[in-house]
Amino acid sequence: RAIAEKFGLLAGKQVMITAGPTREAIDPVRYISNHSTGKMGFALAAACYAAGANVTLIAGPVSLDTPNGVKRKNVSSAVQMLNESMQMLENGCDIFIATAAVADYRVAEVAEHKIKKAGDELNVALVKNPDIVATIAQQEKRPFMVGFAAETRNIEEYAAGKLVAKKLDMIACNDVSRADIGFASDENAMTVFFAEHYQLDKRDLEKASKQEIAQQLIEAIHDALHRDPS
Ligand code: CTP
Ligand code: CA
Repeated sequence: RAIAEKFGLLAGKQVMITAGPTREAIDPVRYISNHSTGKMGFALAAACYAAGANVTLIAGPVSLDTPNGVKRKNVSSAVQMLNESMQMLENGCDIFIATAAVADYRVAEVAEHKIKKAGDELNVALVKNPDIVATIAQQEKRPFMVGFAAETRNIEEYAAGKLVAKKLDMIACNDVSRADIGFASDENAMTVFFAEHYQLDKRDLEKASKQEIAQQLIEAIHDALHRDPS
């Protein structure tokens, strides 16, 4: 059995995980979204539960079964994902893990009726979505915050930047330019960075199944939590 499960590394912890893509409506029949499948978030939810945590998944539209023992709230848009997360936070949360591939922008004005094909060009104005993980990291009673980053280049620089900008405790980053890992793949390879005050070196997680990566991420969370002076 994996260490996280064997030693109940998250025993008694309340864990919230965002997962999957968000869907941003254009009109009643169309939307903007991305290729996220939610597999990493769902694998983490299962592993956190097995490690003794009380787990709530806040899931965008994905076609995955809810892991055994995990509570699940389904959402569609980024704004809904934020609202649901904020509401769930009131029940208490020790660890917040943001695996969701949140759409960075939404359509400024969703058309009430199906948009009819007309001219040769169509322009749709977009506005920025709220940053869910950064918003929660700003709350007074903030959980231990874990972010994910998918990059195609300058991985370390961008990941470290997001760690600081979003006030995260930990960030796990993967290289989506590699065709063999990430997104729809069952395997993943990641590098984990911790906020400076933990004084923990970055960790390279070797290419492994998303289940195995989840175990290593739980060990990383556990290690950081046990070094936190607060
Ligand atoms: N995230 C979030 N809310 C958003 C955008 C991102 O909670 N509106 C979270 C993701 O779930 C992930 C982390 O922030 O844990 C990093 O997401 P990413 O898309 O890599 O970061 P962005 O700040 O959106 O930067 P960019 O897409 O420009 O690289
Ligand atoms: Ca983004």
